[in-house]
Amino acid sequence: MSQPSNRTLVTSALPYANGPLHIGHLAGAYLPADIFCRYQRIAGKDIVFVSGSDEMGVAIMVRARKEGIEPAEIVDRYHPMIEESFRRFGMSFDHYSRTTSPVHAETSQDFFRTLAGKDTFVTKTEQQLFDPEAGIFLADRFVVGTCPSCGNTNAYGDQCENCGTALSPMELVDPRSTLSDAKPELRETTHWYLPLEDFQERLEAWIATKPDWKPNVLGQIKSWLTDGLRARAITRDVPWGVPVPTDVAEAAGVDADGKVIYVWFDAPIGYVSATREWATAQGDPDLWKKYWQKNEEGRPRLLHFIGKDNIVFHCLMFPAMLMAHGDYVLPENVPANEFLNLEGDKLSTSRNWAVWLHEYLEEFPPDLLRYALAATLPETKDADFSWKDFQNRVNSELADVLGNFVHRSLTFAGRFFDGVVPPLKNPSAMDQETLAALAEFPGRIGESYDAFRFREGVFESMALARLGNKYFNDTEPWKTRKENPQACANTVHISLQLCASLAVLLDPVLPYSAALLRGMLNLEDVRTGMPGATGSIGWEEASRPLLKVGAPVNDPEILFTKIEDDVIEAQIAKLGTKEGDEAASAEPYEDAKELIAFDDFLKLDLRAGVIISAEPVPKSKKLLRLEVDLGFETRQILSGVAQHWTPEELVGKHVSVVANLAPRKMMGLESQGMVLMAEDRDGALHLMESTGEAGGVIR
Ligand code: MF3
Ligand code: ZN
Repeated sequence: MSQPSNRTLVTSALPYANGPLHIGHLAGAYLPADIFCRYQRIAGKDIVFVSGSDEMGVAIMVRARKEGIEPAEIVDRYHPMIEESFRRFGMSFDHYSRTTSPVHAETSQDFFRTLAGKDTFVTKTEQQLFDPEAGIFLADRFVVGTCPSCGNTNAYGDQCENCGTALSPMELVDPRSTLSDAKPELRETTHWYLPLEDFQERLEAWIATKPDWKPNVLGQIKSWLTDGLRARAITRDVPWGVPVPTDVAEAAGVDADGKVIYVWFDAPIGYVSATREWATAQGDPDLWKKYWQKNEEGRPRLLHFIGKDNIVFHCLMFPAMLMAHGDYVLPENVPANEFLNLEGDKLSTSRNWAVWLHEYLEEFPPDLLRYALAATLPETKDADFSWKDFQNRVNSELADVLGNFVHRSLTFAGRFFDGVVPPLKNPSAMDQETLAALAEFPGRIGESYDAFRFREGVFESMALARLGNKYFNDTEPWKTRKENPQACANTVHISLQLCASLAVLLDPVLPYSAALLRGMLNLEDVRTGMPGATGSIGWEEASRPLLKVGAPVNDPEILFTKIEDDVIEAQIAKLGTKEGDEAASAEPYEDAKELIAFDDFLKLDLRAGVIISAEPVPKSKKLLRLEVDLGFETRQILSGVAQHWTPEELVGKHVSVVANLAPRKMMGLESQGMVLMAEDRDGALHLMESTGEAGGVIR
């Protein structure tokens, strides 16, 4: 194994350009990566941070169809919006690209060609679901149906979002086209597959060398590996995507017309494309290789920041692609985050249960959200963002602790020491202890960041401001001012030094406030966390006093303004309402179905029933096992409602039941009927309660 080089490439998942960004994006893959990269740059490390918009794939096409416009119009609308939100939130990308760029088409086609040339792929000709009305093969999110492993009735053709299982459309039970009501037909088509099973052993051996990865990440990987990896189709018959290279298709004897590369094949290669574009912009087009490939310097370090729904792609599929290619390093770590909830509920863009970044920015400065999110990141388990918690963090931590400490230090310097840094003479034990404590902070915070423990690092950073406040209180400069002016000078000297160190150490999490603070202190020559920053004061230097005696400082400005209750209440009131944003606009009503004959209706045996017991189905998040009394007999019915009701809530409910549905097996259990419900457009469910006696016929 080669030595590590000193170069690091950091990637954040490419967000789909099919809607604006919300806090879930920030908390998952972007804020942690940004804190990490800023810290590394301040510490003088060679790091390149790339991301870009994911503009291919069915997610974009679904959005375009909803609006009746072309996919290109969708990405041209959202890419600039996303980029702008990232910029205003201070995301310190060295380069932010998009997968419709020509460099990306070339890079991903080259990659595909190389793998095809190494006989990595297999091609298969098979029957696939085709929507005859829309005239399109039903790939990925164009088709939904029941998940064969958990019973979720709205699983997508590529993945069940409920249990995380990767699916292919043919595996769905009762598939439905999301494009039309037409019943899918079977048609023959040929596709390229990446036989992941061929990589199973190598992936296992590689993952075995990563015992230090986050347990939530290793847990998911191990369960995939235990299930056994299967071939994944990596091409699609859809009209939007990076075209399959014609030379490769010719060599395989396949008509490439209308075939594109699957979005989860091209998107991670987007990290490479973005690094190439960055290198070209640096005037050194080959520089990207030093961040992706082993060379005489050693082996660069690759880190992927993602949310947990992307783990399989970054920890198994993309590494398999990189192994097959041979020129690239594998990720050294994939510090994936869990999900962020909002006010105790899952984020939902369709229900507008989200805080949109562009809307947030109309009312608050970016640093406040950066801080509140960083303090509660879903690092080890799902976390919750609440507006009340945001208000508390801003008022009692940022304003009362950090803002207050800076304010009183500068106020004393201005009022009593002519606005310059007073000298330190004959320091007391407490003065000396405080300086000794300061010396420990950069190392301790850096250790947390290096280990991807961002909440801890942020907490430790604020601990320095807490220490400053306590020191200021304990030394009582308002008293010593008259009794012992040198003691007062010492307090102000040391407090200002702590402020100066904070102006460096808080840059990763609070870049705008740290810059403002540097301005108040006239602290120059600081190397910030931005790409290309220079300056001789960095992370290590912040362990020592940075301000010279006699250096002028300015009057304090307000760093953080407290947030009133009514402002927070207004934000809470906005949740779940659908005014304003297009992305949050109401889902369309489901189309009306075709007419049926009265005789067809009579075939249904609908009955009133009473739920007499309910219990979870082991290993299924969605299904409950119900026993329903139909008067003449009791039925076992599996119902996908576990996320809507607890078993206790359902017991005793009078419901309507389809009693003559052919039995179906789910999770090894037979379901002998169906309990009827109405589904709102936002997915909320309502039981069709029926008060008649159990067994009564509904007609
Ligand atoms: N667009 C994907 C999502 O939002 C993430 C793509 S990450 C990449 O889930 F690796 F493919 F780039
Ligand atoms: Zn499932």
